[in-house]
Amino acid sequence: MDRIRIRGGRPLSGEIVIGGAKNAALPLMAAAMLTEDRLVLSNVPRLADIQTMTALLAQHGLAIEAVGNDGRTISLGGPIRNTEAPYDIVRKMRASFLVLGPLLARAGEARVSLPGGCGIGARPIDLHLKGLEQLGARIVLEGGYIDARVDGRLRGASIVFPFVSVGATENLLMAASLADGRTVLANAAREPEIGDLAACLVAMGARIEGIGSDKLVVDGVDALHGAEHAIIPDRIETGSYACAAAISGGSVFLRHAHQDHLGATLRTLREAGVDIQEQPDGLMVQRLNGLHGTDAMTEPYPGFPTDMQAQFMALMAVAEGASMVTETIFENRFMHVPELNRMGARINVHGASAIVRGVPGLSGAPVMATDLRASLSLILAGLAAKGETMVNRVYHLDRGYEAVEQKLAACGADIERIAG
Ligand code: EPZ
Repeated sequence: MDRIRIRGGRPLSGEIVIGGAKNAALPLMAAAMLTEDRLVLSNVPRLADIQTMTALLAQHGLAIEAVGNDGRTISLGGPIRNTEAPYDIVRKMRASFLVLGPLLARAGEARVSLPGGCGIGARPIDLHLKGLEQLGARIVLEGGYIDARVDGRLRGASIVFPFVSVGATENLLMAASLADGRTVLANAAREPEIGDLAACLVAMGARIEGIGSDKLVVDGVDALHGAEHAIIPDRIETGSYACAAAISGGSVFLRHAHQDHLGATLRTLREAGVDIQEQPDGLMVQRLNGLHGTDAMTEPYPGFPTDMQAQFMALMAVAEGASMVTETIFENRFMHVPELNRMGARINVHGASAIVRGVPGLSGAPVMATDLRASLSLILAGLAAKGETMVNRVYHLDRGYEAVEQKLAACGADIERIAG
């Protein structure tokens, strides 16, 4: 397993290009199954999860080809030849579950492996299933698989989510786009990735009102057609590298970053003392003075994103004063805490909250990556720490961050990957 070695203490300076959003690309790829025509997606990030989704769609029968030579544009399309999403793919990537809605809408049936839990929580999919049943699907669980089918077409319905779910909103938005009649999705997720999916579906001929709000109204159509769509920049990659600039005491231009997608991340980082200036094609991020302890509570968008919690905690570990970081979305998303404490951080977890007492400095150590965002938080700590930090199990990182060591090294970090 690869490891990443960092020798800390060097302020970052330079430019980092922000790639396409992983959490937009994955549902957009699933949306390609809603039409036989070709969907062309550009600004696709080069990530392990994208390769996994490509393999999944290919085994459903879609033809997926690279377009042009930038390696970031793909064309997807073709008839669905297999309606089963197998366990050995779904267990590797939960977002595989996003094929359920499109398969039901196009083929009237689907057999999708239950995703199972993951490190950060049980992550049930009950909202996906309840919503699809309201659209007329008959769903049976057996042998670890969801067996879903619908006689004829899905039928529009009024669905109220008891709490916000990004994936359930995406699955049901895709299914409703081909259902017969009107579907209302109330208490829908408002993450920018949902807006990006909805914009692409509209370009494919879907009829969706309320995009960007928590109430989506979908009038189903008989068929969707192909389209071309550029994926939005990754707001979590943006926030992660903003933390890298701040924790290293440097100054970095984040090219293509969209300030208006950052939600509470922008306000919270500014409160903590990070200087963020919007420029024509990105954000200039620097630390002008000290960092000060600032509280954060994760919430659905536009609140502070759970996917930024671990990275923010690393930043607060070296801030002046204390901060309280509360995780309200997932039940086990503090696995980076013991690893940060090995580097000299002073973090105490009390239930869903962690008290972070800032320390003057961290010291490098061998640490273990446990999940995607925790991996990045350990790299951030390594950038600030005195001495050498070795981050093990970086396969987690490769799922969601493209060329991390190259991007950071280009800004002066002493960082390298050790193939293992
Ligand atoms: C998406 O996961 C993201 N993944 C996650 O990013 C992100 O952390 C999460 O949204 C929250 O923003 C992708 O977009 C591929 P949810 P998702 O449904 O859709 C519970 C990353 O690091 N829930 O909004 O699975 C669930 O257990 C990843 O890039 C149910 O109980 O998240 C969680 O506690 C990690 N029943 C909460 O809701 C359901 O049917 C929010 O989950 C669905 C969800």
